[in-house]
Amino acid sequence: MKDFLTIRALGRSDLESLIDRAAGLRDAIGLGEPVEQRLLGRCVANVFFEPSTRTRLSFDLAAQRLGAHLLTFDPATASTSKGESVRDTAITIAALGADILVVRHAEEGVPQLIADWTGLPVVNAGDGTNEHPTQALVDAVTLKRHFGELDGLRVGIVGDISHSRVAGSLVHALPVLGVDVKLIGPREWLPPGAHLPAAISFDEALPGLDVVYLLRVQTERGGAITESYVRDYQLSLTRSSLLREDAVIMHPGPMNRGVEITDDVADSPRSLIAEQVRNGVPARMAVLGALAGSDAWL
Ligand code: CP
Repeated sequence: MKDFLTIRALGRSDLESLIDRAAGLRDAIGLGEPVEQRLLGRCVANVFFEPSTRTRLSFDLAAQRLGAHLLTFDPATASTSKGESVRDTAITIAALGADILVVRHAEEGVPQLIADWTGLPVVNAGDGTNEHPTQALVDAVTLKRHFGELDGLRVGIVGDISHSRVAGSLVHALPVLGVDVKLIGPREWLPPGAHLPAAISFDEALPGLDVVYLLRVQTERGGAITESYVRDYQLSLTRSSLLREDAVIMHPGPMNRGVEITDDVADSPRSLIAEQVRNGVPARMAVLGALAGSDAWL
């Protein structure tokens, strides 16, 4: 694997290899077992032009657990604030000795441009409304660990789908893995395109779901929080009582409590949200490890 720019580049067997690798790494970390130092002496640069807590910190730890040196770019204190271009910034970080770049940017396609400009392996850590492929991997690992199998699972992705790069990756990855995906939200937030599964209403869908995957309203990308959205799509304890007993709730974070989810649901035993965060480090280790060498981690 040269880059990890889009989940669409991976077929079922590649995705399953990454999921199994991540699950094995999660077990090894949990047991305190040593992990192969795939990136010993190499340098991973986290180049986030947009804020992040989960993704950036989990890539930090993933790189360190694989033995890498770490370069962290902070746009608030970097020379981009003095007018340096994205291209010059990327070329500078490559010249400093980075071997792998992890890139987040508000504009779609910037990780691909940086891969072209530098010739280095690049991981897309979220580009505009396009994709967030490692989040989709994290979520697939979480589903596999919880349910054992992905084939036939029924997942409802709920909310601001058209502005969500997480949804942009999930709608491609989950069906490849045999998951039945339903898109649920206000009509104006459902993506155009006949290739996507049909939209249905939230209350109608709830009893038939194994997983409710909630999304934050992406106000920074054009989404707006309205009273009608909260009324019709917030997952409250009352609404979650329509779910099957063994159904679970997921959210990529950051949550807006009181908007798409209530406190009692976010903190309920049904919630896999903290588990998603825990799987972030091994999933990103699996991706960095697959980029590190020619022998097969993928
Ligand atoms: N899920 C996710 O991308 O969270 P961060 O923005 O905190 O990285």
